Amino acid sequence: MFEWFSKDENDAIHILTTDHDIVKQLFDQFEDADGPASKRRISRQAINELKVHAAIEEEIFYPALRQQIVEKDVMNEADEEHHVAKVLIAELDRMDGTEDHFDAKFTVLAENVRHHIMEEEGDMFPRARSLDIDFLKLGQQILRRKQQLKVIEGGKALRKRSAKPGSKRTSRAPRKRKAA
Ligand SMILES: [Fe+2]
Repeated sequence: MFEWFSKDENDAIHILTTDHDIVKQLFDQFEDADGPASKRRISRQAINELKVHAAIEEEIFYPALRQQIVEKDVMNEADEEHHVAKVLIAELDRMDGTEDHFDAKFTVLAENVRHHIMEEEGDMFPRARSLDIDFLKLGQQILRRKQQLKVIEGGKALRKRSAKPGSKRTSRAPRKRKAA
């Protein structure tokens, strides 16, 4: 195994690398999926994972590295790769999966993220490991924030589904409550 990798599940870099493995698996599954329904399901899952992952890197991991100045170029490039991914994710979020370009757009997102992962694991993480950072403490912060974000993203996805025409509740109006 690589020197920068830790087997400790609470280690920040271990957590991020595990996220990478999950999204890479989802990208592979998307490529192998036959029908549009399974492609839609897999892409939705990958996008939710990516949203949470990008947020914890931007809010917690990158700032910790920047404090000790890991090559500015490396960090700036990571920011820009996140930016491109977010643009594609926002467009995919507005699609329902039946569009002509849906598969192509998701494939470009996957290519962009695979490249980003290669740079993080091949360059950023090994550099980070040599810094004076408590990666276990950082890992705890990441795990806490991840839980919060998963609840938020889960709620958003639920609202989106119930707002779709044909779903049981299309109106934003609250349900009527029975008098106590
Ligand atoms: Fe990452």
